[in-house]
Amino acid sequence: MDKIGVLVEALPYIKKFKEKVFVVKIGGSLLVDEKTRREILQDISLLKFVGINVIIVHGGGKDITELSKRLGIKVRFVEGLRHTSDEALEVVMMVLGKINGRIVEELERLDCKAIGITGKSGGMVRSRRIERLGNVGSIKSVEKSVLLGFLEQGYTPVVQPIGLDEEGRAVNINADDLASAIAKELKAEKLVYMTNVPGLLEDENDEKSLISRTTTKELKEKLKWDEVSGGMIPKTKGIIEAIERGVKSVHIIDGRKRHSLLLEIFTDEGVGTMITE
Ligand SMILES: Nc1ncnc2c1ncn2[C@@H]1O[C@H](COP(=O)(O)OP(=O)(O)OP(=O)(O)O)[C@@H](O)[C@H]1O
Ligand SMILES: [Mg+2]
Repeated sequence: MDKIGVLVEALPYIKKFKEKVFVVKIGGSLLVDEKTRREILQDISLLKFVGINVIIVHGGGKDITELSKRLGIKVRFVEGLRHTSDEALEVVMMVLGKINGRIVEELERLDCKAIGITGKSGGMVRSRRIERLGNVGSIKSVEKSVLLGFLEQGYTPVVQPIGLDEEGRAVNINADDLASAIAKELKAEKLVYMTNVPGLLEDENDEKSLISRTTTKELKEKLKWDEVSGGMIPKTKGIIEAIERGVKSVHIIDGRKRHSLLLEIFTDEGVGTMITE
């Protein structure tokens, strides 16, 4: 009966989310370990099979740094942002392409139709080049018709965080920003950040200090008081913008934890941090 209980609890959520759009950002560190990756993709294929339209955006941070070092390419950070030289951009594209291909391959093996694209595909992501960071861009606009076309045909788009600058050249863009921009543009039901911490923490060094629910108003305060740092900064900014532009809820969850995505979406308690207006 326990097993049936789980399904019964999930039923109202399944009904509510049918045909809605979810944008799921998967942190680069979660895609390295084969088992973790497979479990996350299995959960995503389940979402697809209950009628939810999923768009995946992935990072590649740690692998990019590792391969750069192996090739003897300097990794330099300017004000916390990765400087991307011409050589470094080659590495970024190599790593992201490899990760992207793997995700597509594994989704297909799960009978989940997937299509690998970058922000360059169909001119989807237009960005403003940030000169002092080399080949890096900040997002100006996202053309949603590219994604809507794929969703209509039943594909799960898997997007690499690369965009086009004003002159049509490739630029590295932040994956958290891209996930938020796509969610905003499509007025997604949910934006989910899967990362390597339990969620938003009151104290970054204490995994037990998880904030289960919060609002954009509280998040703005936290940004002001430096309670959020490093990789959580682009997420926090992305969360605030997404919700202010119509995304119903944003979640930060621990991708290392088995089936965290399903637990967050289909159970009453959830497992990570849920942010609403
Ligand atoms: N208040 C906070 N709560 C939780 N994590 C925080 C907080 N402040 C800073 N962090 C840091 O943010 C990190 C998550 O961002 P990070 O950029 O490292 O991963 P990611 O975005 O999931 O992956 P990738 O950048 O490869 O796509 C955590 O590992 C943690 O060190
Ligand atoms: Mg990050």
